Amino acid sequence: MTHTRIAGTGSYLPARVLSNEELSRTVDTSDEWIVSRTGIRQRHVAAEGELTSDLALNAARQALQAAGIEASQLDLIVVATTTPDMIFPSTACILQAKLGARAGAAAFDVQAVCSGFVYALTTADALMRTGDYRHALVVGAEVYSRILDWQDRSTCVLFGDGAGALVLSRSDSPGILGAKLHADGRYTGILSVPGSVRNGKVCGSPFLEMDGNAVFKLAVKVLGELVDETLAAHGMARGELDWLIPHQANIRIIQATARRLGMSMEKVIVTVDRHANTSAASIPLALDLAVRDGRIRRGQSILMQGVGGGFTWGAVLARL
Ligand code: UT7
Repeated sequence: MTHTRIAGTGSYLPARVLSNEELSRTVDTSDEWIVSRTGIRQRHVAAEGELTSDLALNAARQALQAAGIEASQLDLIVVATTTPDMIFPSTACILQAKLGARAGAAAFDVQAVCSGFVYALTTADALMRTGDYRHALVVGAEVYSRILDWQDRSTCVLFGDGAGALVLSRSDSPGILGAKLHADGRYTGILSVPGSVRNGKVCGSPFLEMDGNAVFKLAVKVLGELVDETLAAHGMARGELDWLIPHQANIRIIQATARRLGMSMEKVIVTVDRHANTSAASIPLALDLAVRDGRIRRGQSILMQGVGGGFTWGAVLARL
Protein backbone atom coordinates (compact mmCIF):
# COMPACT_ATOMS: atom_id res chain seq x y z
CA MET A 1 0.00 0.00 0.00
CA THR A 2 1.23 3.52 -0.82
CA HIS A 3 1.75 5.93 2.05
CA THR A 4 2.94 9.51 2.31
CA ARG A 5 4.99 11.23 4.97
CA ILE A 6 6.06 14.77 5.85
CA ALA A 7 9.67 14.95 4.63
CA GLY A 8 10.37 18.58 5.61
CA THR A 9 8.78 21.83 6.72
CA GLY A 10 9.44 25.53 6.19
CA SER A 11 7.94 28.92 6.93
CA TYR A 12 8.35 32.60 6.19
CA LEU A 13 7.19 35.80 7.84
CA PRO A 14 7.70 39.18 6.11
CA ALA A 15 10.36 41.40 7.71
CA ARG A 16 7.98 44.22 8.69
CA VAL A 17 6.60 43.64 12.21
CA LEU A 18 3.53 45.62 13.27
CA SER A 19 3.12 45.58 17.06
CA ASN A 20 -0.15 46.11 18.93
CA GLU A 21 1.28 49.30 20.34
CA GLU A 22 2.06 50.70 16.88
CA LEU A 23 -1.41 49.72 15.66
CA SER A 24 -3.03 51.51 18.61
CA ARG A 25 -1.60 54.78 17.28
CA THR A 26 -3.74 54.59 14.13
CA VAL A 27 -6.91 52.82 15.34
CA ASP A 28 -8.87 52.97 18.63
CA THR A 29 -7.46 49.89 20.35
CA SER A 30 -4.80 48.92 22.89
CA ASP A 31 -2.16 46.26 23.46
CA GLU A 32 -4.05 45.25 26.62
CA TRP A 33 -7.35 44.69 24.74
CA ILE A 34 -5.74 42.73 21.88
CA VAL A 35 -3.60 40.51 24.14
CA SER A 36 -6.39 39.75 26.63
CA ARG A 37 -9.04 39.02 23.97
CA THR A 38 -6.88 37.22 21.39
CA GLY A 39 -3.35 36.46 22.66
CA ILE A 40 -1.93 38.33 19.65
CA ARG A 41 1.13 40.55 20.32
CA GLN A 42 2.23 41.37 16.79
CA ARG A 43 1.68 40.57 13.12
CA HIS A 44 3.93 40.69 10.04
CA VAL A 45 3.00 42.76 7.00
CA ALA A 46 4.22 42.07 3.46
CA ALA A 47 6.21 44.82 1.76
CA GLU A 48 4.72 46.78 -1.13
CA GLY A 49 5.15 44.52 -4.15
CA GLU A 50 5.72 41.37 -2.05
CA LEU A 51 3.17 38.85 -3.31
CA THR A 52 1.63 35.69 -1.88
CA SER A 53 3.81 33.67 -4.28
CA ASP A 54 6.93 35.41 -2.89
CA LEU A 55 6.01 34.46 0.68
CA ALA A 56 5.23 30.93 -0.55
CA LEU A 57 8.58 30.78 -2.38
CA ASN A 58 10.57 31.50 0.80
CA ALA A 59 8.65 28.93 2.86
CA ALA A 60 8.88 26.37 0.03
CA ARG A 61 12.65 26.73 -0.35
CA GLN A 62 13.08 26.09 3.39
CA ALA A 63 10.81 23.02 3.29
CA LEU A 64 12.66 21.61 0.26
CA GLN A 65 15.99 22.11 2.00
CA ALA A 66 14.73 20.41 5.17
CA ALA A 67 13.48 17.49 3.07
CA GLY A 68 16.66 17.25 0.99
CA ILE A 69 14.58 17.51 -2.18
CA GLU A 70 15.28 19.65 -5.25
CA ALA A 71 12.44 21.71 -6.73
CA SER A 72 13.00 19.74 -9.96
CA GLN A 73 11.91 16.55 -8.14
CA LEU A 74 8.43 17.88 -7.31
CA ASP A 75 5.54 16.21 -9.13
CA LEU A 76 2.78 18.22 -7.52
CA ILE A 77 2.38 21.73 -6.04
CA VAL A 78 -0.73 22.67 -4.08
CA VAL A 79 -1.12 26.17 -2.62
CA ALA A 80 -3.85 27.02 -0.13
CA THR A 81 -4.65 30.72 -0.27
CA THR A 82 -7.53 33.18 -0.10
CA THR A 83 -5.32 36.05 -1.25
CA PRO A 84 -3.89 34.86 -4.59
CA ASP A 85 -1.50 37.02 -6.63
CA MET A 86 -4.16 37.40 -9.32
CA ILE A 87 -7.56 35.99 -10.30
CA PHE A 88 -5.72 33.53 -12.53
CA PRO A 89 -3.40 31.75 -13.13
CA SER A 90 -3.19 30.04 -9.77
CA THR A 91 -0.56 31.06 -7.23
CA ALA A 92 0.68 27.46 -7.42
CA CYS A 93 1.54 27.89 -11.13
CA ILE A 94 3.30 31.20 -10.40
CA LEU A 95 5.20 29.50 -7.56
CA GLN A 96 6.14 26.61 -9.85
CA ALA A 97 7.87 29.06 -12.20
CA LYS A 98 9.53 31.08 -9.40
CA LEU A 99 10.88 27.87 -7.81
CA GLY A 100 12.18 26.62 -11.15
CA ALA A 101 10.20 23.44 -10.55
CA ARG A 102 9.78 20.92 -13.36
CA ALA A 103 7.54 22.07 -16.19
CA GLY A 104 4.77 19.52 -16.51
CA ALA A 105 4.40 18.92 -12.77
CA ALA A 106 0.80 19.42 -11.58
CA ALA A 107 0.02 22.73 -9.80
CA PHE A 108 -3.20 24.24 -8.51
CA ASP A 109 -4.68 26.32 -5.67
CA VAL A 110 -7.16 25.28 -3.00
CA GLN A 111 -9.52 27.87 -1.53
CA ALA A 112 -11.00 26.95 1.84
CA VAL A 113 -10.00 30.10 3.77
CA CYS A 114 -8.50 29.26 7.20
CA SER A 115 -9.13 25.53 6.62
CA GLY A 116 -7.26 25.78 3.30
CA PHE A 117 -4.11 24.05 4.47
CA VAL A 118 -5.83 20.92 5.81
CA TYR A 119 -7.91 20.78 2.62
CA ALA A 120 -4.73 21.14 0.49
CA LEU A 121 -2.78 18.55 2.48
CA THR A 122 -5.66 16.06 2.30
CA THR A 123 -5.94 16.60 -1.46
CA ALA A 124 -2.20 16.16 -2.03
CA ASP A 125 -2.12 13.03 0.12
CA ALA A 126 -5.08 11.50 -1.76
CA LEU A 127 -3.52 12.28 -5.16
CA MET A 128 -0.20 10.80 -4.13
CA ARG A 129 -1.79 7.57 -2.97
CA THR A 130 -3.60 7.07 -6.27
CA GLY A 131 -1.45 8.89 -8.82
CA ASP A 132 2.06 8.76 -10.10
CA TYR A 133 3.51 11.36 -7.72
CA ARG A 134 6.63 10.88 -5.58
CA HIS A 135 7.06 14.33 -4.02
CA ALA A 136 4.52 17.09 -3.42
CA LEU A 137 4.86 20.61 -2.09
CA VAL A 138 1.93 21.83 0.00
CA VAL A 139 1.91 25.51 0.93
CA GLY A 140 -0.38 27.84 2.88
CA ALA A 141 0.37 31.49 2.05
CA GLU A 142 -1.55 34.71 2.64
CA VAL A 143 -1.34 38.50 2.48
CA TYR A 144 -4.43 39.37 4.55
CA SER A 145 -3.06 42.89 5.12
CA ARG A 146 -4.48 43.68 1.65
CA ILE A 147 -8.05 42.62 2.38
CA LEU A 148 -8.35 44.35 5.77
CA ASP A 149 -10.03 47.67 6.43
CA TRP A 150 -7.30 49.24 8.59
CA GLN A 151 -9.89 51.59 10.14
CA ASP A 152 -12.02 48.68 11.41
CA ARG A 153 -10.62 47.79 14.84
CA SER A 154 -12.85 44.73 15.15
CA THR A 155 -10.98 42.97 12.30
CA CYS A 156 -7.66 44.69 11.47
CA VAL A 157 -6.00 43.74 14.77
CA LEU A 158 -6.63 40.04 14.21
CA PHE A 159 -4.81 39.10 11.01
CA GLY A 160 -1.31 39.04 9.52
CA ASP A 161 0.74 37.88 6.52
CA GLY A 162 2.90 34.76 6.26
CA ALA A 163 3.52 31.39 4.66
CA GLY A 164 4.17 27.81 5.74
CA ALA A 165 5.08 24.82 3.61
CA LEU A 166 5.78 21.13 3.76
CA VAL A 167 7.14 18.50 1.40
CA LEU A 168 5.11 15.31 1.24
CA SER A 169 6.97 12.25 -0.03
CA ARG A 170 5.84 8.76 -0.87
CA SER A 171 6.92 6.25 1.80
CA ASP A 172 6.59 2.62 2.88
CA SER A 173 5.23 3.46 6.32
CA PRO A 174 2.30 5.75 7.11
CA GLY A 175 2.96 9.42 7.87
CA ILE A 176 -0.37 10.99 6.99
CA LEU A 177 -2.80 8.73 8.86
CA GLY A 178 -6.09 10.27 7.82
CA ALA A 179 -8.23 13.35 7.53
CA LYS A 180 -11.73 14.73 8.06
CA LEU A 181 -13.01 17.68 6.03
CA HIS A 182 -16.28 19.55 6.53
CA ALA A 183 -18.12 22.62 5.23
CA ASP A 184 -21.47 24.30 5.85
CA GLY A 185 -22.28 27.00 3.30
CA ARG A 186 -25.23 28.29 5.32
CA TYR A 187 -22.71 30.29 7.37
CA THR A 188 -21.29 32.29 4.43
CA GLY A 189 -22.42 35.55 6.05
CA ILE A 190 -20.48 35.34 9.32
CA LEU A 191 -17.04 35.59 7.73
CA SER A 192 -16.47 36.82 4.19
CA VAL A 193 -14.94 39.27 1.76
CA PRO A 194 -18.15 39.86 -0.19
CA GLY A 195 -16.77 41.90 -3.11
CA SER A 196 -16.23 40.61 -6.63
CA VAL A 197 -14.72 41.96 -9.83
CA ARG A 198 -17.31 42.71 -12.49
CA ASN A 199 -16.80 44.49 -15.80
CA GLY A 200 -13.61 46.19 -14.67
CA LYS A 201 -14.94 47.27 -11.26
CA VAL A 202 -14.92 45.90 -7.72
CA CYS A 203 -18.57 45.38 -6.73
CA GLY A 204 -19.32 45.10 -3.01
CA SER A 205 -16.81 45.48 -0.19
CA PRO A 206 -13.29 44.18 -0.92
CA PHE A 207 -12.58 44.04 2.84
CA LEU A 208 -12.94 41.22 5.34
CA GLU A 209 -16.20 41.28 7.33
CA MET A 210 -16.83 39.11 10.36
CA ASP A 211 -19.34 38.45 13.09
CA GLY A 212 -16.61 37.68 15.65
CA ASN A 213 -18.88 36.22 18.32
CA ALA A 214 -20.65 33.87 15.92
CA VAL A 215 -17.32 32.66 14.49
CA PHE A 216 -15.92 32.18 17.98
CA LYS A 217 -18.82 30.00 19.17
CA LEU A 218 -18.97 27.88 16.01
CA ALA A 219 -15.18 27.42 15.98
CA VAL A 220 -15.06 26.12 19.57
CA LYS A 221 -17.95 23.72 18.87
CA VAL A 222 -16.60 22.19 15.65
CA LEU A 223 -12.95 22.03 16.76
CA GLY A 224 -13.85 20.03 19.86
CA GLU A 225 -15.94 17.56 17.85
CA LEU A 226 -13.27 17.31 15.18
CA VAL A 227 -10.55 15.97 17.48
CA ASP A 228 -12.69 13.10 18.72
CA GLU A 229 -14.06 12.36 15.26
CA THR A 230 -10.59 12.16 13.68
CA LEU A 231 -9.00 10.15 16.49
CA ALA A 232 -11.96 7.72 16.63
CA ALA A 233 -11.68 7.07 12.87
CA HIS A 234 -8.13 5.83 13.48
CA GLY A 235 -8.72 4.00 16.73
CA MET A 236 -6.56 6.43 18.64
CA ALA A 237 -7.28 7.68 22.17
CA ARG A 238 -6.80 11.35 23.15
CA GLY A 239 -3.91 10.34 25.42
CA GLU A 240 -1.98 8.86 22.50
CA LEU A 241 -1.83 12.19 20.70
CA ASP A 242 1.51 13.96 21.18
CA TRP A 243 0.60 17.39 19.75
CA LEU A 244 -2.47 19.36 18.76
CA ILE A 245 -1.71 22.05 16.15
CA PRO A 246 -4.87 24.14 15.94
CA HIS A 247 -5.54 27.01 13.56
CA GLN A 248 -3.85 30.05 15.11
CA ALA A 249 -6.65 32.65 15.30
CA ASN A 250 -7.30 33.35 18.95
CA ILE A 251 -5.69 31.90 22.11
CA ARG A 252 -9.13 31.81 23.78
CA ILE A 253 -10.53 29.55 21.02
CA ILE A 254 -7.47 27.30 21.37
CA GLN A 255 -7.75 27.18 25.18
CA ALA A 256 -11.50 26.50 25.04
CA THR A 257 -10.91 23.59 22.63
CA ALA A 258 -8.18 22.14 24.88
CA ARG A 259 -10.42 22.54 27.97
CA ARG A 260 -13.33 20.86 26.26
CA LEU A 261 -11.07 17.92 25.39
CA GLY A 262 -9.41 17.79 28.80
CA MET A 263 -6.04 18.33 27.05
CA SER A 264 -3.13 20.05 28.76
CA MET A 265 -1.97 23.23 26.97
CA GLU A 266 1.53 21.70 27.15
CA LYS A 267 0.47 19.46 24.26
CA VAL A 268 -0.91 22.32 22.18
CA ILE A 269 1.25 24.36 19.79
CA VAL A 270 0.56 28.10 20.13
CA THR A 271 2.26 30.66 17.87
CA VAL A 272 -0.61 33.13 17.36
CA ASP A 273 1.13 35.66 19.64
CA ARG A 274 3.95 35.99 17.09
CA HIS A 275 2.06 36.29 13.78
CA ALA A 276 -1.70 36.73 14.46
CA ASN A 277 -4.19 34.91 12.24
CA THR A 278 -2.51 34.11 8.92
CA SER A 279 -5.47 32.06 7.66
CA ALA A 280 -4.30 29.17 5.42
CA ALA A 281 -0.69 29.77 6.50
CA SER A 282 -1.28 29.44 10.24
CA ILE A 283 -1.09 25.65 10.63
CA PRO A 284 2.06 25.03 8.54
CA LEU A 285 3.66 28.08 10.20
CA ALA A 286 2.92 26.70 13.67
CA LEU A 287 4.10 23.23 12.61
CA ASP A 288 7.38 24.54 11.23
CA LEU A 289 8.11 26.82 14.19
CA ALA A 290 7.54 23.91 16.61
CA VAL A 291 9.66 21.50 14.52
CA ARG A 292 12.50 24.03 14.36
CA ASP A 293 12.42 24.83 18.10
CA GLY A 294 12.66 21.09 18.81
CA ARG A 295 9.24 20.54 20.40
CA ILE A 296 7.82 18.31 17.66
CA ARG A 297 10.10 15.37 16.87
CA ARG A 298 10.19 12.52 14.36
CA GLY A 299 7.85 9.67 15.27
CA GLN A 300 5.43 11.85 17.23
CA SER A 301 1.72 12.04 16.41
CA ILE A 302 0.21 15.40 15.48
CA LEU A 303 -3.32 16.55 14.80
CA MET A 304 -3.60 19.68 12.66
CA GLN A 305 -6.99 21.36 12.64
CA GLY A 306 -8.32 24.27 10.63
CA VAL A 307 -11.51 26.31 10.87
CA GLY A 308 -12.76 29.38 9.06
CA GLY A 309 -14.75 31.04 6.32
CA GLY A 310 -17.24 28.98 4.41
CA PHE A 311 -17.91 27.85 7.12
CA THR A 312 -15.18 25.19 6.74
CA TRP A 313 -13.37 22.96 9.19
CA GLY A 314 -11.11 19.94 8.97
CA ALA A 315 -8.27 18.00 10.52
CA VAL A 316 -5.30 15.91 9.41
CA LEU A 317 -3.81 13.26 11.70
CA ALA A 318 -0.15 12.46 11.01
CA ARG A 319 2.93 10.80 12.43
CA LEU A 320 6.01 12.87 11.73
O1 UT7 B 1 -10.06 32.01 11.41
C1 UT7 B 1 -11.29 32.32 11.92
C2 UT7 B 1 -11.32 33.80 11.93
N1 UT7 B 1 -11.82 34.48 13.01
C3 UT7 B 1 -11.71 34.20 14.32
O2 UT7 B 1 -11.26 33.23 14.78
C4 UT7 B 1 -12.23 35.24 15.26
C5 UT7 B 1 -13.25 34.71 16.21
N2 UT7 B 1 -13.71 35.71 17.14
C6 UT7 B 1 -12.89 36.29 18.05
O3 UT7 B 1 -11.71 35.99 18.11
C7 UT7 B 1 -13.50 37.26 19.04
O4 UT7 B 1 -14.90 37.22 18.93
C8 UT7 B 1 -12.99 38.71 18.84
C9 UT7 B 1 -11.53 38.79 19.23
C10 UT7 B 1 -13.17 39.13 17.40
C11 UT7 B 1 -13.77 39.66 19.74
O5 UT7 B 1 -13.64 39.27 21.10
P1 UT7 B 1 -14.91 39.31 22.07
O6 UT7 B 1 -14.44 38.98 23.42
O7 UT7 B 1 -15.93 38.40 21.44
O8 UT7 B 1 -15.33 40.83 22.04
P2 UT7 B 1 -16.68 41.48 21.52
O9 UT7 B 1 -16.84 41.32 20.04
O10 UT7 B 1 -17.78 41.00 22.39
O11 UT7 B 1 -16.40 43.02 21.79
C12 UT7 B 1 -16.27 43.53 23.11
C13 UT7 B 1 -16.03 45.02 23.03
C14 UT7 B 1 -17.00 45.78 22.12
O12 UT7 B 1 -17.30 47.00 22.77
P3 UT7 B 1 -18.71 47.19 23.53
O13 UT7 B 1 -19.76 46.96 22.49
O14 UT7 B 1 -18.72 46.13 24.61
O15 UT7 B 1 -18.61 48.57 24.06
C15 UT7 B 1 -16.19 46.09 20.89
O16 UT7 B 1 -16.58 47.27 20.24
O17 UT7 B 1 -14.72 45.28 22.49
C16 UT7 B 1 -14.81 46.26 21.46
N3 UT7 B 1 -13.74 46.02 20.51
C17 UT7 B 1 -12.50 46.52 20.68
N4 UT7 B 1 -11.97 47.30 21.64
C18 UT7 B 1 -10.66 47.62 21.53
C19 UT7 B 1 -13.76 45.28 19.37
N5 UT7 B 1 -12.55 45.30 18.79
C20 UT7 B 1 -11.75 46.06 19.59
C21 UT7 B 1 -10.39 46.43 19.52
N6 UT7 B 1 -9.89 47.20 20.51
N7 UT7 B 1 -9.57 46.03 18.52
